[in-house]
Amino acid sequence: MQSIVGPLDNRFGVPTLGQVPKPMPITHLDFKSEAAERGCFPHFMLKEIFEQPHTVASALSDRLDHQAAMARFGGLNLSTAEFRAVDRVVIAASGTSRHAGLIGEYLLEELAHLPTEVEYASEFRYRNAPFDKSTLLLVITQSGETSDTLAGLREIRRRGHKVLAVCNVGDSTIAREADGGIYLHAGPERGVASTKSFTSQVAVLALFALFMGRIRRLSRENGSSLLRALEEIPAQIQSILEQNNHVREIALKYARAEDFLVFGRQYSFPVALEGALKLKEMSHIHAEGYPAAEMNHHPIAFVDEATPSVFVAPVDQIYYEARRNIEEIRAGEGRVIAITTEGNETLSRKVDEILYVPQTLDCLTPLLTVVPLQLLAYHIAVLRGCDVDKPVTSPKV
Ligand code: BG6
Repeated sequence: MQSIVGPLDNRFGVPTLGQVPKPMPITHLDFKSEAAERGCFPHFMLKEIFEQPHTVASALSDRLDHQAAMARFGGLNLSTAEFRAVDRVVIAASGTSRHAGLIGEYLLEELAHLPTEVEYASEFRYRNAPFDKSTLLLVITQSGETSDTLAGLREIRRRGHKVLAVCNVGDSTIAREADGGIYLHAGPERGVASTKSFTSQVAVLALFALFMGRIRRLSRENGSSLLRALEEIPAQIQSILEQNNHVREIALKYARAEDFLVFGRQYSFPVALEGALKLKEMSHIHAEGYPAAEMNHHPIAFVDEATPSVFVAPVDQIYYEARRNIEEIRAGEGRVIAITTEGNETLSRKVDEILYVPQTLDCLTPLLTVVPLQLLAYHIAVLRGCDVDKPVTSPKV
C-alpha cells in the first residue's frame, strides 16, 4: 500500500477501515524555526496578519497553470473523471474555517455551477445527512485536529464516501485520514484567532473552484482572468497593510464600544461574519455579522450612537444595494466604518470612517476586505488590554 506520509504534495492516502496503519515515517515539515518566533511584532496575531502577502503567494505557488487557464494540485488523489462525476459538494468546518467555506460555496456555485452547502462541523457530525455517491465532502481546517471536523470526516468515510481536506498542518490527524486534499503551506499559526489561514483557505478554494469549473464549462477566458487576478492579490494585500496606522486611529475611537454590527452582501457576507468573530474572539465585544439586507428585519433596531456598524462594501455587482443600506444606518444616527474599493470617494462623504482596498474580481474581494477587519479587531483588542495571542480571560476595561 502507498506510504501515507510521502513526498510533500501527495501525502494523502489512508488505510481502509479495520486495517491497522503501518508506523509512519518521520515527516520534515517545510517551515524554518524562526517562523515560530514573533520577530519584531508585539504579537503573533499581528505578525501573521502581516505574513499574508507571503502566505497567499505560497498557497498559490506551483498551482497556477496559465497554459490551460487551470489550477493544478498534487494531492487530490481523485481522477478528473471522479471530480467530473461530483454533482454536489458539502463543506464542513468550524469557526474561521467555516467562514472560508461559505466563500467556497459562492465560488463553487459561480465558477463550477456545483450545488454546495456549508455545515457547522459540530452539527454535521450528529446529522444523518443524505449523501449520494456523487456527493463530495470537503472539510476545511487550519489545525487538522478540530474534533468536530474530524468526527464529520470519519462519519462520512464510514459510509464509504470520499472526503477531501483543505488543511494547513501537514502531519495532522485530518490530513492523514482524508482521501485527498490541498495544503495551505501557510506555516505555523500561533495566534489563537485564525488570520493568515483564512486568506490562504479562500485562495485555495478559489483555485479548487476554478479546477472544478474548468473540467465542466468555465471558459478559458474566465479561467485566465481569475488566475491573473489571483496573482495580484499578494501585492494588493501588502498595499492594504500600509493602512495599519490609519486602522489603529479608527480603533482608538471605537475601542470602548460594547456592541458592533458588521454587514456585507454576497461574497462580503462571510467576511462580515469573520470580522464579527475576530472582534468576539479577540476583545469579548458583542459583535454580530449579518447579510446587509437582513438589517431591515431587526438588526437596525440596535443601531445607535454607541453601536458602530462596519460595512464591507467593495464596488462589486451588489454595491449600490449595500450603499443604500449604509444610508439607512446613517439616517438612524448610526456610526459607519466602511471598507470599500479605492477611488470610491463618494462613499467617504456618507460614512464616519473609510478604509480602501484595491480593485479585484468580485469573487476575490474577501481576500482583501478581510485584512482591515483583522487589523481593526487586533488594535481594539490591544487598546482594551486583551491578551491578543491567547484571548481566553476577560479583559480589564
Ligand atoms: C477554534 C479557533 O478553536 O477553532 C478558531 O479559536 C478556529 O479561530 C476554529 O477557526 C477552527 O479551527 P481549525 O483548526 O479547524 O480551522
